[in-house]
Amino acid sequence: MISVDRGLVKKLEEKLCFIEDLKLSVKNPDLEFWFILRSEGIDFFGTRISYNYDKIKSKQKGKLKTELAHLLSFLSAPSPKDIILDPFAGYGAIPKERIHSFPYKFLIAVDQDKSLTLKLKNNLSKHRNIEILCANALNLKEIKDETMDKIITDPPWGEYQKIDNLVAFYIDMLKAFKRMLVNKGIAVILTGSVEKFEGAILQFKNFFEGQKKLKILVSRKKASIFKIIKKG
Ligand SMILES: C[S@@+](CC[C@H](N)C(=O)[O-])C[C@H]1O[C@@H](n2cnc3c(N)ncnc32)[C@H](O)[C@@H]1O
Repeated sequence: MISVDRGLVKKLEEKLCFIEDLKLSVKNPDLEFWFILRSEGIDFFGTRISYNYDKIKSKQKGKLKTELAHLLSFLSAPSPKDIILDPFAGYGAIPKERIHSFPYKFLIAVDQDKSLTLKLKNNLSKHRNIEILCANALNLKEIKDETMDKIITDPPWGEYQKIDNLVAFYIDMLKAFKRMLVNKGIAVILTGSVEKFEGAILQFKNFFEGQKKLKILVSRKKASIFKIIKKG
């Protein structure tokens, strides 16, 4: 952010208020217009479409933003035939966004925390073709072999929940994903513990193909989204 000539800002504010029939509220805006000027000489002007999360003091630690849940769902190449699993559903940002924005056949959301799965049951009960399980995602006996088309998830990063050996945790997680995914099934995984995940996925190079990695900042922390496809 840089300071700009106040007279110029005032003129722009007046113009925007006039064109868009808006009232100016610098302290508490619910709509923001942004100018982004880049060093390569490309300039952008637009409205901010994401929420201003600094204003929303969430008590739900680790809950993903809707935009990110949308991106993860989108990367899984959604289809109306999809049977989908989020084995680390937490507050349910991914299942909620997947149901809200894309077609699906059946969705299973899992978490080992009973209070979270109870909340999820209450929140998602109005939707059809959904199952919420309170279970250990590393050993999901409830789910048969090769039955899931897509796994979209944000597993623990070892931040809020202490995990002694996160590489071993990710290895067990990937073993479970390999078992549950159909051939050519897709897993989209977000983690901030990128090196540990990469250490684990190395052991699965004969089982997953097309590994794609997208680098992303999540709450100012470096993270990556991995898209892997089970070899047919
Ligand atoms: C990073 S959070 C997921 C947050 C979620 N994406 C959301 O938006 O709320 C990871 C979740 O995995 C759950 N979890 C950790 N270990 C688990 C396990 N072995 N089996 C099932 N759930 C587990 C935690 O309770 C936590 O809710």
